Amino acid sequence: MSEARPAQAVLEARDLSFGYARGRDAVFEKVSLEVAPREIVCLLGGSGCGKSTLLRTLAHLEAPAAGRASGQIRFLGEPLAAPHPRAAMVFQQPGLLPWLDAARNVGFGLGFARQPRLERARREQRVQDALAAVGLAGQGGLYPSQLSGGMAQRVALARALAREPVLLLADEPFSALDAITRAEMQDLLVELVHRWQTAALLVTHDIDEAILVGDRILLMGGAPGRIVREWCVPAQRPRTADAAAFTALRLDILAALHTARAAGTAPAAPVSSPESLPHD
Ligand SMILES: Nc1ncnc2c1ncn2[C@@H]1O[C@H](COP(=O)(O)OP(=O)(O)OP(=O)(O)O)[C@@H](O)[C@H]1O
Ligand SMILES: [Mg+2]
Repeated sequence: MSEARPAQAVLEARDLSFGYARGRDAVFEKVSLEVAPREIVCLLGGSGCGKSTLLRTLAHLEAPAAGRASGQIRFLGEPLAAPHPRAAMVFQQPGLLPWLDAARNVGFGLGFARQPRLERARREQRVQDALAAVGLAGQGGLYPSQLSGGMAQRVALARALAREPVLLLADEPFSALDAITRAEMQDLLVELVHRWQTAALLVTHDIDEAILVGDRILLMGGAPGRIVREWCVPAQRPRTADAAAFTALRLDILAALHTARAAGTAPAAPVSSPESLPHD
């Protein structure tokens, strides 16, 4: 037997189903997925198929009692019973508090109940390290109104990093940015994942983004949503979206996305095994 898989997944979901209320249709059903240490998994799917709901459920931000949830989530091998301090979310909008400067926004939340207790100096250091990691060293005194959209999203990324996450859960974090800033942020995310040794589950609408950033791509579709296809991305880095190695993959994903959308009202077949395309 091959022992290629890492010993323990950072995140593991088994047969996860969720609906917002009893008696209403499930948003997604029987979703199983894993994220390995230092792996970037991209979650693609049409609008409304349940990607954000799945991500929030995986972060334990959707209270199961308020809706209808079943299945198992394990984080670092343990059943997840509450949001975990080392799973950090990044959203499409930075969500910075306008009355706090960038550094205080980054540090905000480090003192919350579920966070490990940190001395003030250690906390400060984490904030400065996180700001430096996203290219904002020395700019912690700027207020959100003084930041460009890209800088604000860097602060949001720093706020997540300050928790020293082993998993970043990111919901279309770059989709509100212009193309050049988005490309910079995609590169930054890959660099941070490697340098900070975290893993990432990234929800995106953008096939090229998934190919540029992901180690693996999951496609969600159907109603209720399921993971309907899975691809391993050729491991070469750095990547450019127009590289010939990715053309076949892009076309395959696009066709699968269309099929998943067309079948949006029909139950989707469960995924079989990951597919990988040969390198050029
Ligand atoms: N708080 C909520 N209460 C009730 N229903 C909700 C809530 N949030 C989302 N939904 C419903 O759940 C379904 C999935 O929504 P979700 O936002 O997870 O989709 P998505 O795949 O992230 O879409 P998009 O790509 O547009 O962001 C939709 O039908 C949506 O209307
Ligand atoms: Mg969404």
